[in-house]
Amino acid sequence: MSITPSSKPSDQVENTSSPASNSQGIRRPSSLGGVLSVPGDKSISHRSMILNSIANGDALVKGLSGGEDVISTMRCLQAMGVSIEPEGDVGSYRVKGRGANLEEPSDILDAGNSGTSMRLLAGILASQSFISVITGDSSLRSRPMRRIVDPLKQMGAQILGRQNDTMAPLVVRGGSLNGIDYDLPMASAQVKSAVMLAGLSAAGDTVIRQPALSRDHTERMVTAMGGKIEENGLELIIHPSELKAVDITVPGDISSAAYWMVAGLCHPNAKILIRGVGLNPSRTGIVDVLKEMGAGEALQLVNERMEGGEPVSDILVTSTELHGVVVSGDMIPRMLDEVPILAVAACFATGDTVIRDATELRVKETDRIFTTVTELTRLGANIKAQEDGMIIHGNSPLTGAECQSHGDHRLAMSMAVAGLLGNGEVIVNGANDASVSYPEFWQHLQSLIQDVR
Ligand code: S3P
Repeated sequence: MSITPSSKPSDQVENTSSPASNSQGIRRPSSLGGVLSVPGDKSISHRSMILNSIANGDALVKGLSGGEDVISTMRCLQAMGVSIEPEGDVGSYRVKGRGANLEEPSDILDAGNSGTSMRLLAGILASQSFISVITGDSSLRSRPMRRIVDPLKQMGAQILGRQNDTMAPLVVRGGSLNGIDYDLPMASAQVKSAVMLAGLSAAGDTVIRQPALSRDHTERMVTAMGGKIEENGLELIIHPSELKAVDITVPGDISSAAYWMVAGLCHPNAKILIRGVGLNPSRTGIVDVLKEMGAGEALQLVNERMEGGEPVSDILVTSTELHGVVVSGDMIPRMLDEVPILAVAACFATGDTVIRDATELRVKETDRIFTTVTELTRLGANIKAQEDGMIIHGNSPLTGAECQSHGDHRLAMSMAVAGLLGNGEVIVNGANDASVSYPEFWQHLQSLIQDVR
């Protein structure tokens, strides 16, 4: 299978209609190979901007994600008087912290497609002595916000929203907050972080008990900035603290690297080196699951090191055979965003893969149980949705078909990888959605295609 080469790099993946087309056609190349660096980790990028904005002093952040979600966070912070200016290399920004006091925004804050922007910023807005309104695109306006509204109201913030204060736009009148004792109803790092950020400016301690560990980037960064957080297993105690700005080098995003891990492992003739990937243990579920599926030496961590307080490694992937697994329980929050691409891998594995305990997927940018199952079914996958996950019967070679991103970046990229692996052309409608987290995705895909015919 091949793609007709062309002079413009991004044209090898065929742009199926007009120049402004939002569709890409992908076929399996004879081999996949190359070296690339994925964008800066999205979660760490958001936090590096938000936490430095409410810290004392200036900081230089390097390797920031250029994804639209992180740009949404930066725009919201700038609208509240924070100076964020590019400095030096691409992806490097100087943030001038304002300490605890931001400026009242003169207009509605727009979080775009980004749940992390809206939920973490709400945690900051809750303690500001001004009124603000935060909204987002139609996907974000349909996602559940009660999960942050409830605890922030308990802390003393006044928050109004659509649908009985459960959906954006949210109106926040911040003010003095009290610490609370809070049992998180779901293993969500966004909700945990919103409460933690509010807790930093509350009177008294805030206690948060998590049902399972979700990503802990906020804990790490707040601690690095001098904030006082005690961690006892799944319990966190946040002491009111002022933060000191710190320089941050953002590692590569493991959630973006996951597309190339699966492409490399499942393509019959592949060798891909992904440089500088963040390997925070609360995020490495995808590596553990692929290993459990039999990736073995075909997925190697090379040059493991610590950078800016986070473990980082290069990842070398080569072709192999995978087998099905059961993914459930505490593993799910460690690889939640990787379920769509894991489902692609499972189609090429032998045996069945069962994903359970993942109802949180239903409230992501799309209902990812529904959208993943719908789109892979179009390509001929033998896959069934369950209330809390999905079952994928492996060894069902995928065929070409036209499929939809549903406005979801992770769906667009997962279906593109399915196109690199299956038979026939996969047309991804909504291809540009990848830029929410991975603006370079299509160029990187193009760069890996080595067609010798
Ligand atoms: C994120 C947390 C996760 C994840 C999202 C980013 C974060 O969401 O799905 O892409 O940066 O905190 P939840 O915490 O809501 O599960």
